[in-house]
Amino acid sequence: MKESILIIDFGSQVTKLIARRIREIGVFSQIIPFNEIKKDCVDLNSIKGIIFSGGPKSVKEKNSPKIKSFIYELGIPILGICYGLQLIAKNFGGDVGPSTDREFGKRELILKKESPMFSNIIAINEAQQIWMSHSDKISSLPSSFEKVASSQNCEYAAIQNLEKKIFGVQFHPEVVHTFAGHKIIRNFVRNICNCKADWNMKLFKNKILTEIKNKVGDNKVICGLSGGVDSTVTAALIHKAIKNNIICVFVDTGFMRSGERKQIQELFNKNFQIKLKVIDASKIFFEKLKNVKDPERKRKIIGKEFIKIFENFALQQKNVKFLAQGTLYPDVIESNSKIGDTNVTIKSHHNVGGLPKKMKLKLLEPLNELFKDEVRELGRELKIPKTFTNRHPFPGPGLAIRLLGKVNKKDITILRDADKIFIQLIKDEGLYDEIWQAFCVILPVKTVGVMGDRRTYEKICVLRAVTSVDGMTAEAYKFKSDFIEKCASEIINKVPGINRVCYDYTSKPPGTIEYE
Ligand code: XMP
Repeated sequence: MKESILIIDFGSQVTKLIARRIREIGVFSQIIPFNEIKKDCVDLNSIKGIIFSGGPKSVKEKNSPKIKSFIYELGIPILGICYGLQLIAKNFGGDVGPSTDREFGKRELILKKESPMFSNIIAINEAQQIWMSHSDKISSLPSSFEKVASSQNCEYAAIQNLEKKIFGVQFHPEVVHTFAGHKIIRNFVRNICNCKADWNMKLFKNKILTEIKNKVGDNKVICGLSGGVDSTVTAALIHKAIKNNIICVFVDTGFMRSGERKQIQELFNKNFQIKLKVIDASKIFFEKLKNVKDPERKRKIIGKEFIKIFENFALQQKNVKFLAQGTLYPDVIESNSKIGDTNVTIKSHHNVGGLPKKMKLKLLEPLNELFKDEVRELGRELKIPKTFTNRHPFPGPGLAIRLLGKVNKKDITILRDADKIFIQLIKDEGLYDEIWQAFCVILPVKTVGVMGDRRTYEKICVLRAVTSVDGMTAEAYKFKSDFIEKCASEIINKVPGINRVCYDYTSKPPGTIEYE
């Protein structure tokens, strides 16, 4: 039986990052929502530790998420993070209250007492950068616990009960901005829970292959292919599992980048022995999006049309029961995080939140527990060429969500031409692989300019380029200013319809990577 860490989810946007950090250490982990925790999901033979995630509610609220008390009697080490820490404090007789100074972002943690959580990380009275995101804090510590560390506005930023092996931190060790976060999680997993580190992507690949075989049986699968890393890895994985029972379908929405359809078709046929059907649906997509301005409506319409096309195609084949998509975990989090009865939607990714309620095909989403960089690693494990694994992400709704406001053919062409120039200049400069994603956006406003003594009144093009590890957080790429100048000048000179170019310095959060 494989050793694992059980993560109990209280609804945080970053719960999956905890799982990911644990996987990086080489230990398997599983996430179960708090309201599904029963005695029989805690297999004492395999579970070596339990982590309570953060969450958006206050433990003081009447309907806030709770945990059954048997969890504390199992003798398994527990680490509570943020909401998890506050829940532990409340359950052991302490109290929690609103913080007069809420803390969001980078703070300093000062260690006050030796703890196995912080061993070989900080010494007593030393400070370390942590990442906080809380409105409540412990106001009264339960008597069976001791204070381990504090921050400026939070006295009980880390606590412990060594005898019961229960620990808690108010900050988020799972996000990269907590400098020693991975070491804190490592101390918990390896030293406190005594887990061995024997989990890797090869094992994960074999697990997914077996799951696909068991789920699909002798049925057929159609797989939505965009040529990006997610759908390509999905297709290769399913092909490996069920051989020729998969057909890939590439839908040209009319919102693809310059030459993309031809390029993907050629590359895919050259590198894979998987059947590929190309469907030109650009007319339908333009028709359906006519006069639609609202980003969420755009996404939902596009998601629905994709499914209609796949279902119609499936009807023409025999025995197709499944639709495979390269959905990743962040798509799921941002499209429909749910805590108790409250939805927390950031944006409906076309392949999750954009899906119609009733579908004839069953979904097969083998990557929906993974982050993009893990998918790239899986792609390498499957020996998929770099031309696919290193491609920048491109959203399913394509240029339709980068031409802000109403979509029309003329402006899509302008956007496509500008995007081609920007990406080519980045490639020429040798920067493509350093950047997570780069693209152009056209704003729905015009500005006045002057070109060759003539007044112009044209569109603004925004250049966006970000670095990121997994798409959950991102920072603007810091180009040299003469490079941006060169891009601005080339785009304005070569693309009629644009007379101004701006560079976007917004990070995620507070922005998102895409604009809609
Ligand atoms: P945001 O804009 O949410 O994007 O910060 C995070 C990453 O997800 C991509 N993205 C999508 N991908 N369908 C997709 O396949 C979608 O509807 C979608 N929306 C955003 C985005 O390009 C970025 O890499």
